[in-house]
Amino acid sequence: MRKIVIAGNWKMHKTQAESLEFLHGFLKQLDETPDDREIVLCVPFTALGALSKNLHGSRVRLGAQNVHWEASGAYTGEISGAMLTEFGVRYVVVGHSERRQFFGETDETVNLRLKAAQNHGLIPILCVGESKQQRDAGETESLIVGQLQADLEGVDQSQLVIAYEPIWAIGTGDTCETLEANRITALIRSQLKNPDVPIQYGGSVKPDNIDEIMAQPDIDGALVGGASLTPDSFARIVNYQ
Ligand code: PGA
Repeated sequence: MRKIVIAGNWKMHKTQAESLEFLHGFLKQLDETPDDREIVLCVPFTALGALSKNLHGSRVRLGAQNVHWEASGAYTGEISGAMLTEFGVRYVVVGHSERRQFFGETDETVNLRLKAAQNHGLIPILCVGESKQQRDAGETESLIVGQLQADLEGVDQSQLVIAYEPIWAIGTGDTCETLEANRITALIRSQLKNPDVPIQYGGSVKPDNIDEIMAQPDIDGALVGGASLTPDSFARIVNYQ
């Protein structure tokens, strides 16, 4: 049975105070949310402390947006698995296209981060996806198969979530057509040893397209950026019909 995982990715948004204000508006909208949906908030490191205290006893899981592969050391600006688990973090986004594009993340470092996350009992959300240029050049399938092969080398597929995030759909309002998103999700599944790995779609997921996205047979959830920043919009997404 594949799990449904709906994760918000707050990126570099929200102070502690703003995070708590979000939670106040969000948690009360989860009373009717079906139990089989895992709800995750991947937040900035500075919000982990406040959120972990206030999520106690709620069904929302805490997530982070990065983890380093070493346990400690001279790695300015990085964070270790133990630093995250101390706050009760359960999920961590790894290999997001913004990390690959702006911060020099490579398949090699993504692979190291995935293994480190799992060694700390964290479930990584691995992001893969093609740029507009790669799509136009007909390279989508080969790019994604290549990313999966390199990123998942030696990774335990029983503790893993994958997000298919076409880069051209992220933050643009330009959602990937749902049948196409489903086709690529199925392609990703065909590359895995464990067919039960939840595979999310990400890229301009909104309250008005979530129902159609979740109706696709191969899509097991969503990774949501902009629309996870307001309580009403993210609540509508986790409460998809
Ligand atoms: P978006 O971001 O929902 O704002 O397009 C998705 C993501 O980057 O994970």
